[in-house]
Amino acid sequence: MDKDLENLKKQALSAVQAARSVAQLDELENKWFGRAHGELTQLMKGLKDLSPEERKTAGEELNHLKVALSEAVAEKRGVLEGSAWAVAAETERVDITQPALPKKSVGHLHPNTLVQRDLEDLFTSMGFMVLDGPELESDYYNFTALNIPENHPARDMQDTFYVKGHKNWVMRTHTSPMQVRAMQKFGAPLRLVVPGKCFRNEATDVRHEHTFYQLEGLVVDTHITLSHLKGVLEAVARHLYGPATKVRVRPKFYPFVEPGINGEVTCFLCSGKGCRVCKCSGWLEIFGAGLVHPHVLKEGGIDPAQYQGFAFGLGVTRLVMLKYGIDDIRLLESGDMSFLEQF
Ligand code: DAH
Repeated sequence: MDKDLENLKKQALSAVQAARSVAQLDELENKWFGRAHGELTQLMKGLKDLSPEERKTAGEELNHLKVALSEAVAEKRGVLEGSAWAVAAETERVDITQPALPKKSVGHLHPNTLVQRDLEDLFTSMGFMVLDGPELESDYYNFTALNIPENHPARDMQDTFYVKGHKNWVMRTHTSPMQVRAMQKFGAPLRLVVPGKCFRNEATDVRHEHTFYQLEGLVVDTHITLSHLKGVLEAVARHLYGPATKVRVRPKFYPFVEPGINGEVTCFLCSGKGCRVCKCSGWLEIFGAGLVHPHVLKEGGIDPAQYQGFAFGLGVTRLVMLKYGIDDIRLLESGDMSFLEQF
């Protein structure tokens, strides 16, 4: 073999032996076999300048060298990779006798959210859209637009929190303000629900809290009657408490509906016989509702001669308390972990 080639081979083989990592081997391979500047690649390219005789012997020698180097690299690669596995096996060994590490506590959904999402699913399945509304509302949408003008006695029952220096802003006392906002934005026909947080200035006790949840519903279309309202609320009642649940409606005044009704369902615990949950009446009040008042439709930019609507407000917090047997409403906003971890 040509002296230079002999030398190249020696140096190359000892470089392979000296390599300490797979990356170093890659570098060597590139140095010899690299397409553009590899040492062997260059020599191969030079063959074309030799006479046919010389080219034959030199070509054979170069090929042998190439094979020898490739084999040396492959062998060394095997050794290096094998020892990398061995190192990993040693350092990453799992000690199966080690006691379990303390479990990291992962949060979960609040009972309010669980009930709210269940209702959202039910209403979307019936073609309702789900809207969000502002919790800090204008006095106009919270009261005036809902046929509750200033000085109307209905404002007394819904005292809330006002913002200093902003006489016209209130923490919304119900989700109903979204009725007029949605009518103004989308026009008729409409089918929507608005779940969300509401606020009232209450002297708190087991049944009253300054922060609670409602779910508002609104349908506007032509030929809407009270039977549509009852049909939808019966579907809600059956979804919540089973197919045998009955709904009872009785007249009740709300300024933004005419007629207004209050809706009760047969008690899920005693099926109407009377027990402690329904206070022996057999019925549970879970919503207020009615046919949308013409004044409210007008505020929403909808012609009451052409369209009618029904609206309802479900007390989500009340549903949560009934569902889980919670007897003190204040627990829900308390942030008390021993309470929350039960859900
Ligand atoms: N907004 C009422 C409340 O908080 C509940 C209600 C009653 C909503 C009748 C309605 C309705 O949409 O039609 O007491």
